[in-house]
Amino acid sequence: MHAELRIDGLQLSYWDSDQRHPVMLLVHGFALDQRMWEPQIAAFDSEWRVVAPDLRGFGESDGGPPGPLTLSQHADDLAALLDHLGISEPVVYVGLSMGGYTGFEFWRRHRGHVRAMVLADTKATLDDAERRAYREVMAREAEAEGSSAPALRAMWPSLCSSSLPLDSAVPVRLREIMEAQSARAIADGQRGMALRQDSVPLLPTIDVPTLVVVGEDDVLTPPAESRLMAERLPHATLVEIPGAGHMSNMEAPDAFNGALREWLGRQ
Ligand code: MLT
Repeated sequence: MHAELRIDGLQLSYWDSDQRHPVMLLVHGFALDQRMWEPQIAAFDSEWRVVAPDLRGFGESDGGPPGPLTLSQHADDLAALLDHLGISEPVVYVGLSMGGYTGFEFWRRHRGHVRAMVLADTKATLDDAERRAYREVMAREAEAEGSSAPALRAMWPSLCSSSLPLDSAVPVRLREIMEAQSARAIADGQRGMALRQDSVPLLPTIDVPTLVVVGEDDVLTPPAESRLMAERLPHATLVEIPGAGHMSNMEAPDAFNGALREWLGRQ
């Protein structure tokens, strides 16, 4: 079911299957919202309590005061959501791309909430100067145009594997979700990501089981980034999904869910 909670006077929206099962927290990527997890909600909802928020500023959630939507704020919101739901047991944290960046912050700030982690199509390294500059360019364009169109132009064509036609179901669904994001989410979301910390030194401290998943054709956070994470994480399993790009969970849901299910079964 969809529900809302209020934090600091803001309304944050989330999906909660509200079952008496172990908890899986699904955290979406940039310019998207919890709807990107539809294939995982459908697959895991009967065995897991699946909680999938719209991060502050994205989807149906309010953005709060102007300024960068930082990953530390997202992490604190997630902890507040778990508290609100009365979930004190550690959860399986699943984050894709920006959801992975948020996962590193969640580990820094709230590691007692984490029993295992899935880092999908993400990276621990910092942006180079060119990437940081590009984030500010997109932020200003979004503000000038008052929409998410700059994110669509720059990112949408490369979100999925180039082998997937852009008029097929997954890219079309992604376009729909991205079009629904506000200019604020794009501008201050990019500024928040530009401020993130280097998480490479954090990797050896993540002493819970981790599943690192990446689409072999991911051009936004390429497989080399996942290999680097898997090398430095103490308890990592690395899965590379053939034929999938950055949105591996949507593009190859059977392979993604199968890898997740198999790994969960070993925890
Ligand atoms: C995402 O999918 O969340 C973004 O590609 C992350 C980023 O811009 O670094």
